[in-house]
Amino acid sequence: MNINGIIDGFSRMSKEEKLKLVAGFFDHPEKVLKELKSYWHSDPKKQVLFDEFSENTLSNFYFPFGIAPNFMINGKSYMVPMVIEESSVIAAASSSAKFWAERGGFHAEVISSEKLGQVHFIWKGDPARLEAAMPELKKELLDGTKGITSNMENRGGGILDVQLIRMTEQIEDYYQLKVSFETVDSMGANFINSVLEEFARLFKEFLIKSPLFREDEKDCEIIMSILSNYTPDCLVRAYVECDLKDLKVGDGEMSQEKFVWKFKKAIEIAKVDEYRAATHNKGIFNGIDALALATGNDFRAIEAGAHTYACRNGKYQSLTDLTIDHDIFHYELKVPLAMGTVGGLTSLHPMARFSLEMLGNPSARELMMIAASAGLANNFGAVKSLVTKGIQVGHMKMHLFNILNFYAATQDEKLKAVDYFKSRKVSFKSVTDFINNHRSHALGLKS
Ligand code: MEV
Repeated sequence: MNINGIIDGFSRMSKEEKLKLVAGFFDHPEKVLKELKSYWHSDPKKQVLFDEFSENTLSNFYFPFGIAPNFMINGKSYMVPMVIEESSVIAAASSSAKFWAERGGFHAEVISSEKLGQVHFIWKGDPARLEAAMPELKKELLDGTKGITSNMENRGGGILDVQLIRMTEQIEDYYQLKVSFETVDSMGANFINSVLEEFARLFKEFLIKSPLFREDEKDCEIIMSILSNYTPDCLVRAYVECDLKDLKVGDGEMSQEKFVWKFKKAIEIAKVDEYRAATHNKGIFNGIDALALATGNDFRAIEAGAHTYACRNGKYQSLTDLTIDHDIFHYELKVPLAMGTVGGLTSLHPMARFSLEMLGNPSARELMMIAASAGLANNFGAVKSLVTKGIQVGHMKMHLFNILNFYAATQDEKLKAVDYFKSRKVSFKSVTDFINNHRSHALGLKS
């Protein structure tokens, strides 16, 4: 593919024009067109819906949609929908969910549900005067945004507080209006950003009309108005616990004492070493992101907030904690999760709607608890495997189909491979050898 120069006006082209232009860069444009169109939805109305989620859509990109059954959370049973490409994630979630369902299940609670946004501005004036004007300014801002907030208020949400943050020590004349919100069941990004942009406009107006400020204080430069993806007060915790004696794992190759000792060390390592902490937390996000995707939630926002939270003590650390007290094993995840169950993609994407229906149309708070439990399940499954048999056994067993598909294996070859690898180690080489041998036999090249 050879692209020379800048493409002008691409977004204004029709979908067909875009497809033709892109396909034209390949050696076999017809083949490319056919391939891209083969992933279009058979229902043109649905395809238009998908097209309009984003700009410049050419086709759809398929990811597996699966479920992890047997999640018992606060005594209620769930089948957790997951969209994920990594072959072992759903298997790990399911196996952990079952393991804990037999030991009381997951316990979860939402600690807080506050979201945040900021108006960042530069102002050259007397900080004390701005401080003194805050009660009046706050009233102006709240009154001036009633048109945006009334619906949210009717649903039990709205603006919780407005604070002036002075950061002139860090950047000359730099301040923020830090605003906290309750957005109930919606993620609330559009609501928050609309309020903040209106706050910025009203703030500029306030400086001009208020008699509290000198002439040289009537101007300010708004740098930006935007929500923060760091929401440490939109926090959920999920935990599992059981008697130590009930923690027998695997096929008895490792004693319960040894397992608990190794598990504890693994958690301690993820607290002190950021290299391990990153991977440890990635295992948590295997579950959380898969559910976020399945329910149309913004997984990048969730990740950004949670990784920042993981640094709250000045160093990147694991998000889970283990305590063992009076022979009770208590393993807990605490994580900020700004999730929604209404608005945006959650209601527009037919599969997101289906996922939410499968979960019994939960509130945002319930979804936060399910997500935290899924994250804890995946992490527990990963660490349990790591400190016992290692992850590659399970991982490669699940990866077997990917390797077989790489060789375009037939259904018959897949069945034979599954049988063959029941008691053998899966690796790219061993599967390649298996396929080569099998095909040579089939062609009668080997006796
Ligand atoms: C792989 O997707 C996730 C793990 O690396 C997590 C971990 O190491 O804890 C297995």
